[in-house]
Amino acid sequence: MLDQANQLREKMLIKQSDKPSKKTVKKTRVLAIASGKGGVGKSNFALNFGLSLIEQDKKVLILDVDMGFANIDVLLDQIPRETIASMIEKDLAVRDIIEKGPNGLLFISGGNGFNELFRMDDHKLHKFFQELATLQGEVDYIILDTGAGLSYENLRFILAADDVILVTTPEPTSITDAYSVVKMVHGKDPNVHMKLVVNQCVSIKEGQQTADNFTQAAAQFLGKEIGALGSIPNDLHVPEAVKKQQPLLLVYPNSESAVAIRQLTGEFLHLRVPYKLGLKGFIMKIFFK
Ligand SMILES: Nc1ncnc2c1ncn2[C@@H]1O[C@H](COP(=O)(O)OP(=O)(O)O)[C@@H](O)[C@H]1O
Ligand SMILES: [Mg+2]
Repeated sequence: MLDQANQLREKMLIKQSDKPSKKTVKKTRVLAIASGKGGVGKSNFALNFGLSLIEQDKKVLILDVDMGFANIDVLLDQIPRETIASMIEKDLAVRDIIEKGPNGLLFISGGNGFNELFRMDDHKLHKFFQELATLQGEVDYIILDTGAGLSYENLRFILAADDVILVTTPEPTSITDAYSVVKMVHGKDPNVHMKLVVNQCVSIKEGQQTADNFTQAAAQFLGKEIGALGSIPNDLHVPEAVKKQQPLLLVYPNSESAVAIRQLTGEFLHLRVPYKLGLKGFIMKIFFK
């Protein structure tokens, strides 16, 4: 494992110093969407946030790494021809497995077996991440739709990303689980940038109060600053869009929740979070943390 990781690091360092002009290379940020509890609306948020970034002229790729519960493809009603698992099995290039969704949205599905691969086969995993690194500069954002909670894989994705958006609902169970994620991640690396989104709020006030309580508790008890990106109302248009297997932002573009997601996106784009190493930094951290 360490040998392979060292080889990968060397290759990436060589490639970086070889670059003729830094100006021409677009930065690719890796953004993990995470939660403590499942079913809080992560996948719907990842999808619609991605589409909202596209409305702001960003190029976006969603990497569906919710092992076992991958469902971006279901939300889009597009069965992927290939997945990360099949890519590795058939020795394909990452470009061969990228699916094209609506409005130029790109996505990759993990597929069955990806989690076992993540745990057991370093050689194959190494190859996958090397392939992924070739996308550096081709998209502005890679959004990781991660699984709920703190599995080994999730934690690695969260710790390696440039930014983490933590999704919770106002329910106490969802909040306490999200808080556990912050505690664990902060304990492992206090420099991870985390932002909170409160989904399924019955009122703006409820969203604000939940976010205030959460960010204050994190600051007071963990010494962790978490910015609140905003809240999304509980809106029946979301399950309606899911049933239609079409993204909310496209099928109900003026719904309350779609408007809230656009607002959040505006907030996100205004943040001045320092750019770390982007995609290459993500890949290096996946191997070294
Ligand atoms: N803002 C919202 N208002 C109403 N229902 C929502 C909202 N966000 C998500 N949901 C519903 O919650 C359920 C879980 O959403 P999903 O995105 O699959 O969650 P996760 O990825 O966290 O498991 C879906 O049935 C979806 O319709
Ligand atoms: Mg999901």
